[in-house]
Amino acid sequence: MYDNVVLIGFMGTGKTSVGRILARRLGWTFVDTDEHVERTSGLTISQIFAEQGEESFRRLETQALKELLAHRDRVVSTGGGAVLKEENRSIMMRSGLVAALQAKESVIVERVRKDANRPLLQGEVEERVRTLMAARRPLYEFAPLQIHTDFLTEEQVALEIESRLKGEA
Ligand code: S3P
Repeated sequence: MYDNVVLIGFMGTGKTSVGRILARRLGWTFVDTDEHVERTSGLTISQIFAEQGEESFRRLETQALKELLAHRDRVVSTGGGAVLKEENRSIMMRSGLVAALQAKESVIVERVRKDANRPLLQGEVEERVRTLMAARRPLYEFAPLQIHTDFLTEEQVALEIESRLKGEA
């Protein structure tokens, strides 16, 4: 049995909602790297990007992953760019079952369109999503569990992860 579940995937793939449902089902603790960064820094993600730059955010994100995954029985939802660093990917792989959530571009665009707290998607949302998704798609492939969420409810996605987790006990 794995110690933790780590959810990865592009912005708007439902990591946080699925993670909360899964944690409740397993009786585990749900945590989110973005929330942890905001709580420990006292700043919103947008403020960190604007005032300190992306590099600084990425350092805080790695720190959050390390702190949150130094425990067990946790469902950890990560920011869409947490897979960019090899260091982060290896922390995830040795800490639990890594599940990648995938969704169609159009679904993602609709979900993130009105969100002002995603600094990387400000401006032309369609274009930003298309470019970033194309660049990042290969970075989510290391996850042993890949789930296409387009035709599933959040509950169904959580169930799929739970059965994989229990099947490998
Ligand atoms: C980012 C995704 C965001 C957040 C930050 C950067 C990214 O998290 O970490 O805005 O680089 O994809 P969500 O995937 O939860 O939106």
